[in-house]
Amino acid sequence: MSWERKITKYSGVNLSTDNELSLSLRKKILKLTEQYFSLVHYKKEFVPNETFISASGKYLTKEDLTNLVDSSLDLWLTSGKFTEKFEKKLSQKFGSRFSSATVSGSSANLLAFTSLTSDYFEKNKINDGDEVITVAAGFPTTVAPIIHNRCVPVYLDIELETANIDTSLLKKALTKKTKAIMIAHTLGNPFNVEVIKKFCDDHNLFLIEDCCDAFGSKFDNKTVGSYGIFSSLSFYPAHHITTGEGGAVLYNDLKLKRIVESFRDWGRDCWCSTGMNNTCGKRYSWKLGDLPKGYDHKFVFSHVGYNMKMTDMQGALGLSQLDKVDYFIQKRKDNFKNLRQKFLDEGLDKYFILPEKYEKSDPSWYGFLITIKNPNKLNRTDMIKFLNDRRILSRLLFAGNLTRQPGYMNKKHKIVGNLKNTDKIMKDGFWIGVWPGLDEEHLNFMVDSVKEFINKSS
Ligand SMILES: Cc1ncc(COP(=O)(O)O)c(C=O)c1O
Repeated sequence: MSWERKITKYSGVNLSTDNELSLSLRKKILKLTEQYFSLVHYKKEFVPNETFISASGKYLTKEDLTNLVDSSLDLWLTSGKFTEKFEKKLSQKFGSRFSSATVSGSSANLLAFTSLTSDYFEKNKINDGDEVITVAAGFPTTVAPIIHNRCVPVYLDIELETANIDTSLLKKALTKKTKAIMIAHTLGNPFNVEVIKKFCDDHNLFLIEDCCDAFGSKFDNKTVGSYGIFSSLSFYPAHHITTGEGGAVLYNDLKLKRIVESFRDWGRDCWCSTGMNNTCGKRYSWKLGDLPKGYDHKFVFSHVGYNMKMTDMQGALGLSQLDKVDYFIQKRKDNFKNLRQKFLDEGLDKYFILPEKYEKSDPSWYGFLITIKNPNKLNRTDMIKFLNDRRILSRLLFAGNLTRQPGYMNKKHKIVGNLKNTDKIMKDGFWIGVWPGLDEEHLNFMVDSVKEFINKSS
């Protein structure tokens, strides 16, 4: 059919990249893309009460759009050269040896946890019914992989000021069935990773650090995510960098690559990149499982896996976002510092518990969490609505208390001690933005609005 011939002739796969006409066309398209970006996606002027001040958002430049278009012109579509480059650059920027790009932060968490069920870990591997220490305050998909793998989340309370795990409860939580700790650095604020890491080492537990909100955070001058066996990142638009949807698992041991990527890529044993064949040189000579000798290695499955690979367009976007990540991290830090100082200068710490960090930590903040001290004086819902009417958007601390969530409350779990602080933040806490799209004028308006709500309520 004529349309079939056309596609074959002009698709990126068959089009020679050194063909002069195709190269000059590509250049033109990318130049036009830049122009289009400047025309349509320029930064709009801030108008109080009209401009939305979101709690989080994506920060995109013309380079992001041109990378996206550039990768789409290849028509490779699945994981390819852009994704591979992105994985390399990501691990360098993040401070780990390896990374495996995936479709979301949630799937990065699932891949990280599920990897620990691999036979590779022999007697240490995670089995059905094992217990995993975590917190109930936070994002649901930090905990979901524990339940998906038929293990039992053991919930500990958090501290009010850091919104991170209360490490004084760790010993009480430990049983013969405890195999791992899986927690997030809440809103970019590192948990006490020194204490957690030592506890894991002392009791032979795996540590998975959910760094989805904490790209660039450090503890004791060491990047978070490098303490655990695995860590995860999310590239959903709310996060430090974005690929639309997207995420990554990060780790420091090459042996783990085969396991993570096997689970990510259908569970297969073969480790060829997309479009490659016979990387192992023994494609038709393996003898694995009960399969006949020489069964095509591409179709041997050593794990019960998923397909969670990133597309090349996402990889391309990730590359140009990574070029800006140092700026993003610094802007988040500056905005946080600025906002906190304004709250203190205005005496707002009288009304709110403000976020605190550990002395050794250097957070790359995701949001500014405030918890109303006296809910009889200030009502959280009224406050959120008041801010919302002024176009200042906020978020709760995600699920609040997972043990109270309809999807989680009846799933097997344990609570050690009580979840008093978790409940306090669930009822009276919320967070506002510090993301790089916010400037001084936004922050001033946010603080003025908080003051106005207090005046109105008293
Ligand atoms: C701490 C944490 N973990 C995991 C996720 C899930 O990431 P994604 O939305 O990319 O699945 C989020 C999402 O915001 C998060 O905040």
